Amino acid sequence: MDPISTIAQEVKDELERITDLSALEKFRVKYLGKKGAITNLLRSMGTLNKEERPVFGKRVNDLSKEVEEKLIAKETELKNKARAFQLRLETVDVTLPGRSPNLGHRHPIKQVMEEIETIFLNMGYTVAEGFEVEDDYHNFEALNIPKDHPSRDMQDTFWITDDVLIRTHTSSVQTRIMEKQKPPIRIISPGRVYRCDDDVTHSPMFHQVEGLVIDKDITFGDLKWTLTLFLKELFGEEREVRFRPSYFPFTEPSCEVDVSCFACGGKGCRLCKHTGWIEILGSGLVHPNVLKNVGYDPKELGGFAFGIGIERIAMLRYGIDDIRLFFESDMRFLRQF
Ligand code: PHE
Repeated sequence: MDPISTIAQEVKDELERITDLSALEKFRVKYLGKKGAITNLLRSMGTLNKEERPVFGKRVNDLSKEVEEKLIAKETELKNKARAFQLRLETVDVTLPGRSPNLGHRHPIKQVMEEIETIFLNMGYTVAEGFEVEDDYHNFEALNIPKDHPSRDMQDTFWITDDVLIRTHTSSVQTRIMEKQKPPIRIISPGRVYRCDDDVTHSPMFHQVEGLVIDKDITFGDLKWTLTLFLKELFGEEREVRFRPSYFPFTEPSCEVDVSCFACGGKGCRLCKHTGWIEILGSGLVHPNVLKNVGYDPKELGGFAFGIGIERIAMLRYGIDDIRLFFESDMRFLRQF
């Protein structure tokens, strides 16, 4: 065989065996590079005579062109293969269920508080803010709680100084509001309160919502229908509401308000301690002494107030038996609301 045919055969065999781009580059250099076999053939033309030269030249040129074309075809083939392989590696199964982000939500205590706020906002009340750090006067004295009253006991109140404490109830906002706002007053005030108490149903910090209405001609009837409406909104139309005489130093008369038991509907069970009733809030007509303390004339103005414990409502509603669960930030607990 002549050198051209030999090289043509070699090219064919070698190209078939090439499987990657770097081997292909070596192949190109070997045949078409500056010192490549086909380049050398062209150079050797100088040694041929005039008749042989055009024929030889044409054959070498044809071979060179053919090899270049094959190189390009092979390169395309290898690149396509590599790309197909890469795509297979990166395949995304769009039918797989996605990973949804964890959406947060309001804390159950905040949810109950907002529900209560909404009910009263719809009745024309406004939301007022108080102070968590209070003085003796607003938490006790102005509310007709004298110095020797048992609720001032060291075991109940967290004192900061002789005169400063963290409030034991949201009733401390009553006087603060009356001091700076002219009647008629219709407010609720949600917030944190503190008592030196800690067991499965008592937490040293918990939440209350206070309500206060001051106007001319407010009667116990206004208190009754307002709270009945509120409790039926909150717990459902089917709940019975009962007003039970009670005592608070800052209201007169005072009452506690019960609703028929969530669990047994009034028949009597463990939750309601077999009474059929669950105590929900404290309330009463604002005591004349409280009105006098802010300079109101009890003959002219009157009102009612109430206070409701939020944790208790949430515990009853969701059947939670340990108040501490609300404050442990355990996602397994919180996710359920
Ligand atoms: N402050 C009372 C308590 O914490 C509740 C209450 C508020 C009672 C307003 C009467 C009027 O128990």
